[in-house]
Amino acid sequence: MNQKRPGFGTRIGFELAAAGSAVGLGNLWGFPYKTSANGGAAYLFVYLACILLVGAVAMLAEFTLGRRSRANTVSAYKAVSPNLGWLGLLVVVIPALIMCYYLVLGGYTVKYALGSFVGNAGKYEAFAGNVGDVILHTAVFALPAALIVIAGVRNGIEKAAKLLLPTMLLILIVISCVSLLLGEGVHEGLAFYLKPDFSKLTGSGILSAMGQAFFSLSLGCGAMIAYGSYSGQTVDLARSTVVVCLLDGLLTFLSGLAIFPALFHYAAISGASLSSLGMGGAGLTFITLPMVFEGLGLAGQIISLLFFTMMAIAALTSIISILEVVTQFIIQRHKLARTRAVSIVAFACLALSVPVGISLGLDVNGSKALCLFGRNLLELLDGVTNTLLMPLGALGACLAVGWKLPKAERFSGFTGTMLRIVTPVLIVLILVFGAVDMVFPATEAGRAFSADGFGMLMIAAGVVLLTIIAYFLWLKNRDTGSNQDEEAANAKREEAFRAGLQRGWQRPE
Ligand code: PHE
Repeated sequence: MNQKRPGFGTRIGFELAAAGSAVGLGNLWGFPYKTSANGGAAYLFVYLACILLVGAVAMLAEFTLGRRSRANTVSAYKAVSPNLGWLGLLVVVIPALIMCYYLVLGGYTVKYALGSFVGNAGKYEAFAGNVGDVILHTAVFALPAALIVIAGVRNGIEKAAKLLLPTMLLILIVISCVSLLLGEGVHEGLAFYLKPDFSKLTGSGILSAMGQAFFSLSLGCGAMIAYGSYSGQTVDLARSTVVVCLLDGLLTFLSGLAIFPALFHYAAISGASLSSLGMGGAGLTFITLPMVFEGLGLAGQIISLLFFTMMAIAALTSIISILEVVTQFIIQRHKLARTRAVSIVAFACLALSVPVGISLGLDVNGSKALCLFGRNLLELLDGVTNTLLMPLGALGACLAVGWKLPKAERFSGFTGTMLRIVTPVLIVLILVFGAVDMVFPATEAGRAFSADGFGMLMIAAGVVLLTIIAYFLWLKNRDTGSNQDEEAANAKREEAFRAGLQRGWQRPE
């Protein structure tokens, strides 16, 4: 394969990078607590079904958009229709928003992994409330991510994925085995996780599983379009989609297998009730698990180290895909060198993540000073992107590929029907019910929590509107570049460098 092409060198490299993007905090933090909040096994089954049916279709659409244009997301949508370019800009804005809070969470994982070294997996309140510490760890997390993306798609992202994804899988298998061997309570934990009781699953549980599937597969935010644009022309995208979805599903499944038996075991030996352990809450991984690990002695300390290291790795392979989406656009639109583009994006997002970290820290300490619409900035950004903007982005991809491609390129048969009709309908349902639940929360807890869901809806609408305006004002009639631009610029730089060397050689001493 041509060494100069700025893309993945191998099919497996592409698939592992996409799987690395997919497997992240959504799988290891979001999934376990949402599963326990929604009755266990039934949620798992709905989630896996959503990945294979709805998620896979949307992923194929995004890969296709990227590969056929071999360009950044804006050019990819423009290649379908110039009037759709705003969707491409929207999926540059969404990952930028995600980055601002994902970096903070990544910082948490670094803190907890390092904390395990000294036998203390981090006391949540003490850490979250200490803003300086949070910012420091966020920066420590952002640095390797930036360096990997600076190294490029093949030398950075692909190499990292080839090393890190198998490492994660191995660690997760080891932890699952240890967890299953703990003894007392393990059986109950397994039953909770694997014996479905569909009567426990509510409508909002199903919606949550669908939304979770989208977030977990990194859909609707350009990541899979960007990675698709770097896949080789001969790669069978449908096959790769299945591989990525299976890997994501497998790692998610294993994360439950690692967590629930250990949790139930701890409850059994400590006599604590599961609800007092905060099983159905967002603190499951960051508050409850460290307690569980500490209660298991030395073995627990080792598991803690492994678990949080794996979590940091998972967050890292996800954040690099988000960073690449924005970087790719900046490089191609503004003809910037990769190092410069990454530095700008990473610094900007790091700066924006500071108020997010502060807002969360204040909230944890009981101050709502930096909250908007009743939520701290992390919850706010998470809600706006996860519930509203990402499904919108994924819907756009399905409709564009399903209906707008030239006839000869369209998918037919089962995939075509899913792409054109079934998946879009399901995504619209997710969007509508998600929005309704945000404005009129069904549960008492939800009502107390999202007092101002309407405000969040307005923020999402504002982001979309501004993006559309910006696109039609600045981008519709301008060149937005393609992967080849980076290639050409690199070749030029190399040539200039060689010419410089040669001149140096020729110059007499
Ligand atoms: N899929 C990642 C996770 O599960 C999150 C993510 C979202 C990554 C969007 C990239 C883009 O945590």
